[in-house]
Amino acid sequence: MAKPASNTKKRAHALFNWFDQRLPISDFWEAHLAGYYAPKNFNFWYFFGSLAMLILVLQIVTGIFLTMHYKPSADEAFASVEYIMRDVDWGWLIRYLHTTGASAFFVVIYLHMFRGLLYGSYRKPRELVWIFGMIIYVLLMAEAFMGYVLPWGQMSYWGAQVIISLFGAIPKFGGVITEWIRGDYFISDATLNRFFALHVIAVPIMLLLLVVLHLSALHQVGSNNPDGIEIKDYKGADGKPIDGIPFHPYYTVKDIFGVGVFLFIFAFIIFFAPELGGLFLEHDNFVPADPLVTPIHIKPVWYFTPYYAILRAIPDKLGGVIMMFAAIVMLFLLPWLDRSRVKSIRYKGWISKFLLALFAVTFIRLGMLGMAEGTPAETFEARIWTFIYFAFFGLLWFFSKYEKTKPVPERVTK
Ligand code: HEM
Repeated sequence: MAKPASNTKKRAHALFNWFDQRLPISDFWEAHLAGYYAPKNFNFWYFFGSLAMLILVLQIVTGIFLTMHYKPSADEAFASVEYIMRDVDWGWLIRYLHTTGASAFFVVIYLHMFRGLLYGSYRKPRELVWIFGMIIYVLLMAEAFMGYVLPWGQMSYWGAQVIISLFGAIPKFGGVITEWIRGDYFISDATLNRFFALHVIAVPIMLLLLVVLHLSALHQVGSNNPDGIEIKDYKGADGKPIDGIPFHPYYTVKDIFGVGVFLFIFAFIIFFAPELGGLFLEHDNFVPADPLVTPIHIKPVWYFTPYYAILRAIPDKLGGVIMMFAAIVMLFLLPWLDRSRVKSIRYKGWISKFLLALFAVTFIRLGMLGMAEGTPAETFEARIWTFIYFAFFGLLWFFSKYEKTKPVPERVTK
């Protein structure tokens, strides 16, 4: 026989009910967690969405603490970061969490996006999930770029110089646009101030809003899975998908395991190699910004370098800028470029498998070339990989339609 509920329990229940009648708490719980049926065959590729959410929260929280001590002024910014690292209690940890968090964010996002490519998660009916994801990706790049300018080191300054001057390639209006972005005739205190405002408030708000849209769009149609089968098509007598399991507790517990593994690796980097050999924190950025001394080798942080390699591969500046933006636009178009009868790579033919593997290699190799000095041989190689990068999208469009695919099972297999 159940023990009669204690008075405290009864009161807690009554309090909860009071709120629940006024706020859709249990409705939300039911619609998005306990009553949200996700395919039962999620594999490790499905860890990265929840990890991205974790890092977003981590960046916001550590960012708030950094803002308490950081000074957004060209005269004080560099020294205030040094102050955070040396004098603020636990300041070094907060900063390393934030800088390592930025790189971890991109590692996780690139894996999350690659999962989409593997299993055709961008295909109908999830086009909007993908589009919102792509907008998040572009915003994330803007967020990281502006954050990198804030410590006002040599690479902050000269990186901003290179990227902002790209807009100068736009015919007729280039000059006006660059001046408008900088807020001055050169990169100055005004530029730093506006980047600070955008980095700490405007872009994070947009990111949060887009994550809500991203997940709402996903839950409207339901999750894809490694088989690319719509589990909603096979429902049991209770109206629930036969191949689905409630997100809570099954995937909340599974995701906690993913978080554990992630935090283990993350902590290792923070405590033993926070600069990661100049990959996460570049050595030139430990020198205060000096408008009169150009660093010998200006390069962006690793997560931008595939696009930087494309930019440098094209001899003409405007052409390079167009191709760099086109490289991102192609990703936006994926839901319509892939015309295969099947979603998942498991049931596609060998051409698709080969093309996707080649695309991954191309992206990594372009990233490596974007970090290199840019000798004539490297530039020549970057041109070949740039060609392959774009060819991938054309070949996908063609072969996905005509390639022989394997029969897709009706129910989830493994
Ligand atoms: C702040 C960044 C992001 C967060 C917090 C986030 C979060 C999530 C979460 C929690 C899921 C459901 C769990 C999962 O499938 O892993 C998901 C699914 C998905 N996301 Fe993201 N995401 C982000 C960025 C992106 C980006 C940049 C893209 C691609 C351009 C993207 C594409 C997708 C797709 C296609 C799905 C559905 C996957 C499927 O059902 O197979 N997301 N996202």
